[in-house]
Amino acid sequence: MYALVATKSNNLNGNIKLKGAKNSILPILAACVLTKEDVLITNCPVLSDIIDMLKIISSVGGKVNFYNGNVEVCCKNINPSQIDKSLMKKIRSSIFILGPLLSRCGEAEISLPGGCEIGARPIDLHLDGLRSLGVKISQSVCGENSVVRCKGKPVGGVVRLKYPSVGATENLMMAGALSSGTTAIYGAALEPEIVDLATFLNNIGARVYGAGTSLIIVEGKTSLHGARFRPITDRIIAGTYIAAVAVAKGDVFIEGAVGDHLDSVLHKFRSAGVIIEESASGLRVKMSRQLKAVKQTVTLPYPGFPTDLQPLFVAAMSVANGESVVTETLFENRFRYVYQLGQMGADIILDGENTAIIRGKELSASSVFAQDLRGGAALTVAALAAEGESIIYGVEHIDRGYENIENDLTSIGANVMRVFA
Ligand code: UD1
Repeated sequence: MYALVATKSNNLNGNIKLKGAKNSILPILAACVLTKEDVLITNCPVLSDIIDMLKIISSVGGKVNFYNGNVEVCCKNINPSQIDKSLMKKIRSSIFILGPLLSRCGEAEISLPGGCEIGARPIDLHLDGLRSLGVKISQSVCGENSVVRCKGKPVGGVVRLKYPSVGATENLMMAGALSSGTTAIYGAALEPEIVDLATFLNNIGARVYGAGTSLIIVEGKTSLHGARFRPITDRIIAGTYIAAVAVAKGDVFIEGAVGDHLDSVLHKFRSAGVIIEESASGLRVKMSRQLKAVKQTVTLPYPGFPTDLQPLFVAAMSVANGESVVTETLFENRFRYVYQLGQMGADIILDGENTAIIRGKELSASSVFAQDLRGGAALTVAALAAEGESIIYGVEHIDRGYENIENDLTSIGANVMRVFA
């Protein structure tokens, strides 16, 4: 078990280079099941979620090799019945394998990914969408497992998503890639990771049109081929380090960050007084004064403010001058870290289940427990603004999405180290 020890840090300075986005890489890896040929994904961070996805691909017969940020995948022979159901249960993103397996093999049996730290996370939109594409689905409870059996190769059809779910949109795009007809997804999610998956699918020979709009069309092909692909950079990690500079001040260049992917986030941090300069090679983030409170922020599907950066923004607002209000509309358990921030002295009142009222003040160090990925990152950022030495336990949650958060932060002068605890 590891913990992070962090002390108040001033004037961060230097350069952080972003790697590929976890939320792009996970569906792209699952999509490798669609082709018998070799695929190479570059610039991949070593994250536990990515390693678990590779194990799932191996369990159905894929050959995987992860070295120096490159992931090689070859899915020449696939046997969907061998899928490792315990891993399916363990990671939420395992659901991404369903669409590709059905498209390639016409059958799949999975264990239902459970709810997770941030909410119940049902998969009804994934399953209803697959039914609309001609897949027969039955569910049964077997001991502690809820098993979903899917039969039939998708034949195309029209799906109308009642909510722009990122994962359901991605699963249905992949399900349509090798189908015998055309798939139309109305109400599709618009996230940059959706566009990246479409670009990858088209690179391996699929025909996906309209990604980045609310109507995506996928014309099924009979086979797909190999490719080499570099995913987009991680906009959530970029936002995390913007929050770090916002609270600790300084002048940091986030290399590879794409301003267009972060419009709503840049707007909010700029309203709080952070200077952010956009260029083709990244974002320069400068801060020299105390943060100003931002009256109202609401998380929404893209291009709205991302739920994944809500904890980071609340951490920043907890040291801002004045009162901020942040409302979470996507996940019901996304304020659990607030109690831990309170241990550092933050003045945050939860109004109902989904609104936080934050009155900015000085923080003081404390021992705190990360309970989920972004909540853990938020505690780490808050610790950079807290007087004294904080200890953040539960680093395994943070490691799901940050390759080595302490290395990135120390490289720009923050006082953070990993200890065995
Ligand atoms: C993805 C991201 C996650 C991010 C989220 C929202 C990945 C690996 N993860 O998760 O980091 O926080 O988008 O931007 O890309 N819903 C249903 N039924 C479904 C599917 C979703 O009710 O079948 C609900 C969810 O409970 C949630 C909302 O829709 O309230 C959004 O979820 P969704 O967009 O599907 O998120 P994920 O794809 O799981």
